Amino acid sequence: MIEYDKAKRLLEALEDSTDRGRVLRRRAMVLLDSLPGYDWSGIYRLEGRTLVLDEYVGAPTDHNEIPIGLGVCGTAIAENRNQIVGDVRKLDNYLACSLETRSELVVLIKDQAYQTIGQIDIDGHFTDAFDKSDEAMLEKMARILANRWDD
Ligand code: SME
Repeated sequence: MIEYDKAKRLLEALEDSTDRGRVLRRRAMVLLDSLPGYDWSGIYRLEGRTLVLDEYVGAPTDHNEIPIGLGVCGTAIAENRNQIVGDVRKLDNYLACSLETRSELVVLIKDQAYQTIGQIDIDGHFTDAFDKSDEAMLEKMARILANRWDD
């Protein structure tokens, strides 16, 4: 759950920066890291049929590359939709990044032609940490990132 004003300020900070590409994505992840409950924030780029870890803030993960269909991240691509998971312990198809993770939110990043080019992945240490307000904020962030995807 993120307050409307907080989401607005965060998105304005990103929109107002002149950064592009990977530098912009880094800035976005650092901004997300300042939010309570956002314990790991990262971006995966979709390269062919594999998700490749891009910029992230949080503990290093073993999952630098994820095939389509695997885990919450790969499922988002396979089903072509965002994923809000309230308790990852209830999933069969889950790739543990940290044993502390309980909630996960994945929002697709699409280009102007509405093709998926990547995703934003957030992990939280508490159950039901994320809802539609977080998804809506990340969808807006995804559009800003997509518009300035390349360096
Ligand atoms: N938990 C993810 C893997 C990525 S880590 O959370 C960083 C998944 O199930 O796809």
